[in-house]
Amino acid sequence: MHLTNRYKNYIKMSVSLKSSRFGKTYLFVKGKIVLKEKIFTVSNLQKTYESGAVKNNVIENFDLDIYEKDFTVIMGPSGSGKSTLLYCLGAMESITNGEIIFENEDISKLKNNALSELRLNKFGFIFQQIHLVSNLTLLENVVLPGLAGPNRTNNSVYEDANNLLKRFGISEAANRLPSQVSGGEQQRAAIARALINQPIIIFADEPTGALNQNNSQIVMDLFSELNNSGQTIVLVTHDKRAALRANRIIYIIDGSIVSELNLDPYQASNLQEREDKVNEWLVSMEW
Ligand SMILES: Nc1ncnc2c1ncn2[C@@H]1O[C@H](COP(=O)(O)OP(=O)(O)O)[C@@H](O)[C@H]1O
Ligand SMILES: [Mg+2]
Repeated sequence: MHLTNRYKNYIKMSVSLKSSRFGKTYLFVKGKIVLKEKIFTVSNLQKTYESGAVKNNVIENFDLDIYEKDFTVIMGPSGSGKSTLLYCLGAMESITNGEIIFENEDISKLKNNALSELRLNKFGFIFQQIHLVSNLTLLENVVLPGLAGPNRTNNSVYEDANNLLKRFGISEAANRLPSQVSGGEQQRAAIARALINQPIIIFADEPTGALNQNNSQIVMDLFSELNNSGQTIVLVTHDKRAALRANRIIYIIDGSIVSELNLDPYQASNLQEREDKVNEWLVSMEW
């Protein structure tokens, strides 16, 4: 196997060497070889907000690959550009410069219609503020993007929605309005809604930020379960407990990656060791 040292990243806890060939990428994570498909290749990303004469370069010279089936968490101080990055990846924000390659296409060059289709059919979004439609039931909220998507019968959308609600333990609340259920139940419905079109990737921005500890745990258990069954996730969080679920944590300051920590896939056992590793790493970031 020919390996080019295209990418080297020395990290306190683990060393990862990566090399690309035939569209797949060999990742050396903690001494093990893993073969993964790249989902996103971000090159030289720049995002500048302008207000009047003032330019704010939120993200500059930014390179990042996102891999299939990974649970990637993005951490960093408030204002460091985490949400901006997520929205650029998710084609919700235009970019100032650079490339975001997804499925062999630079999505930053796509027109509005193509972007809407991409967001509807390939991406799932989950936010801190839950944004369910207040006069629709949880079930109606979940089916909505499914009915808007292509090539689906109403029956199959409703069937999938009911299955998701059941899987997430909120079947009994299916016919209630958002205001009639807890924040945790609302967020579970929002996750179901994000999954209704079987997205290739889920983007989540502080999904536990508005939840109490108990509901946060329920929601993060769901994310872990989804990732264990192969769902690719990119999640921004301030919550160390949420970050523990990742197999890859990226730390950004002022719109640049300053460090990356690779972990084994999350398991509920051995949590203490995992927490110690993440703690030590975050302390080294002056978290
Ligand atoms: N829509 C916007 N218009 C102008 N400036 C913005 C906008 N969104 C974010 N910013 C600025 O970009 C910087 C990064 O913000 P953000 O990505 O929300 O950071 P984080 O999610 O890490 O807290 C901040 O300085 C913020 O004020
Ligand atoms: Mg943010």
